[in-house]
Amino acid sequence: MEIPSAKYWEEITSKLSKLFKIFFDSEKSIIYSNIKRGKKIIDIGCGYGRTIEYSLKCNPKFILGIDHNPKVISLAKKYFKDNKKVTLKVGNSSRLPAKRNSFDYAILVGLYSNLGNKKEKTLKEIHRVLKKRGILISSAYNEDAFDERIRYYKKIKIPIKKIVGNTVYFPREIGDDVSEQFHKSDLVSQFSKAGFRILKLRKKGVGYVGIFQK
Ligand SMILES: C[S@@+](CC[C@H](N)C(=O)[O-])C[C@H]1O[C@@H](n2cnc3c(N)ncnc32)[C@H](O)[C@@H]1O
Repeated sequence: MEIPSAKYWEEITSKLSKLFKIFFDSEKSIIYSNIKRGKKIIDIGCGYGRTIEYSLKCNPKFILGIDHNPKVISLAKKYFKDNKKVTLKVGNSSRLPAKRNSFDYAILVGLYSNLGNKKEKTLKEIHRVLKKRGILISSAYNEDAFDERIRYYKKIKIPIKKIVGNTVYFPREIGDDVSEQFHKSDLVSQFSKAGFRILKLRKKGVGYVGIFQK
């Protein structure tokens, strides 16, 4: 398949393990069950657009997808070329190309674990671009995910440069150069420090999936 779509990732994870499937399914269902129709959404680290595909089912007014990798943005542009609600831009999560107080929802699904030393800046940026009481939907690997993560990287053939504790480092050409996992208390303190109220944070398979409010 030339352009990996939501279906492609769902097939990979469903074959991988029950815990990965639970995590990926819960990322999908938290988007479906929380985003109201007619709203403006920013998807940070949108990749090929798996989470954009889910968000489109919620009938939004507009989705802005941001990813720092020009290759995935160019493939996503091909995939969504006929959809006028979707705009895609190359950009970094630590300096979002968006105005303050302009989005109803932010999606940070799949990326938080890859942010390394950009976690704090990214959460501050999301806080800046969300409207008052805007909602952030996020996910990250949990403290028990290590073995499953290693199996996943092998399955999708991502080379590993080194492993320090539970942190996995990838070669530079991969784009995401680090992958971390978190205890619930880490996520609570990091998201609270950035000014978010935790509305929901549940352990699901290999990760945590949460809803946060500005
Ligand atoms: C694990 S993928 C998640 C893709 C998608 N959200 C999903 O759940 O299927 C992480 C994506 O974030 C992008 N990324 C990594 N660091 C980034 C950063 N600092 N700013 C913007 N995008 C970033 C990567 O290029 C990659 O496409």
